[in-house]
Amino acid sequence: MTKILTGLQPSGTLHIGNYLGSILNWHDTVNEVPNAQAFLTIVDLHAITIKQNPDALRQQIYELAAVLLASGVDYKRHVVFPQSANPDHTYAGWLYTCITPMGWLDRMTQFKEKKQKTTEYKESVGAGLYAYPTLMAADILLYDADLVPVGIDQKQHVELTCDIANRFNSLYGETFRIPEFKTNKETTKIFDLQHPEKKMSKSDQDDAGRISLTDSSDQIRKKIMRAVTDDENEVRFDSEKKPGISNLLVIMAAVTGRKKEDIATEFRTAGYGAFKGAVAEAVITYLSPVQQKMRDYLDDIPQLQQILDEGAARAHSISHPKVLEAVTKMGLYLHG
Ligand code: TYM
Repeated sequence: MTKILTGLQPSGTLHIGNYLGSILNWHDTVNEVPNAQAFLTIVDLHAITIKQNPDALRQQIYELAAVLLASGVDYKRHVVFPQSANPDHTYAGWLYTCITPMGWLDRMTQFKEKKQKTTEYKESVGAGLYAYPTLMAADILLYDADLVPVGIDQKQHVELTCDIANRFNSLYGETFRIPEFKTNKETTKIFDLQHPEKKMSKSDQDDAGRISLTDSSDQIRKKIMRAVTDDENEVRFDSEKKPGISNLLVIMAAVTGRKKEDIATEFRTAGYGAFKGAVAEAVITYLSPVQQKMRDYLDDIPQLQQILDEGAARAHSISHPKVLEAVTKMGLYLHG
C-alpha cells in the first residue's frame, strides 16, 4: 500500500503558500493514488526549535488542526495527529541523531537561514534547530512513507531523510523504506507579496507580504492590491523579469483551477489594478468556505482534541513496531 505523509509546523499563522504548496499538494497526491494510507502531522516538536509562547503555541496547534480538517481531510480514513502526542518520534529522532554525521547537518540551508534570523531577533540558537532534520526523518520513516508532498524548501530535508534511511539500513539491515519528495510544480514556492524574490514565510515579522488563512476578506484585498509589481503594465508570466505579477498569476491559477497562461491572456492589457482586484476576489472566494469551516472546528475544541487523540493512538500503533525493530537491531535494552 502506498503511504503518503506530510507535516506542518504550528509556528505562527498558516499562509496561502503553506496551503497551496503543502495541504493542497497532499490532497492531490492522495487523490492520485488509489487506496493510499495518508498521514498529516502537526509538528509541534519542530516548532519549539525556535522560542514559542506556550499559550500561543497551543492555540496555533488547534488552528492548524482546524485548517487541515477544514481543507476536507477525511480524518476517519487518514491519520491526523500532533507529533508530540506520539513519543516514538522523539525516540527515533534520537536514534537517527546518533547515526547522522554532523557534516550532513552542516549543509542544511534552512538551519543557516533560521540561525541567522534567530540571531537577528537576539535569541540563542538551540541544538534542536541543528538536529531538526533527524526528527523530521523520524516523522517520515516511522510510517514507511513512500511520498512526501511538500514545498521546494523541504527538498533538502527529504533528501537527508533518504540518506539517513540508507545509512541505517546499511549499518543494521533493511529496516526503513526510502521516501520520495513530491512537489506540485506550480505552487512549490509561493513568493512574498512585498518581496517577490523571496518565499512567503510564516516567520517574517512583517505580515504585509503574506496572506494568512485567518485574514479577513478586507485584509486579503488590501494585501493583494498593495502587492509589489513592476513598472510595465502588461500581465504576463515571466518569473525573472516580473516576479510579482508571475506570483499573482500562480496564486490565481491555483485557486481557480485555471491555467496561468489563460489568465494572463484574459488580463494582458486590463491594467494591474483590475488584475489584482480579480486575484483578490478569486482568493477570497476560495478561502472563505475553508475559513468558515475552520471557525466551526475551533468553536468545538473538545471535538478537535478527540480527533487528534484518536489520530495519535492510530499513529502510535503503526510507528511502535517500527521503533521496536530499530532499537532491537541497534542492540538497545528492550523491556518486556
Ligand atoms: P513548514 O511548517 O515550514 O511548512 C509547511 C509546508 O508548507 C510548505 N511551504 C510552502 N510552499 C509553497 N510556498 C511557500 N512560500 C511555502 N512556505 C512553506 C513547506 O514546504 C511545507 O511543505 N520541516 C517542515 C515540516 C515537517 C515535515 C515533516 C514535512 C516536519 N516533519 C515530515 C513533511 C514531512 C517545515 O518546517 O514545514
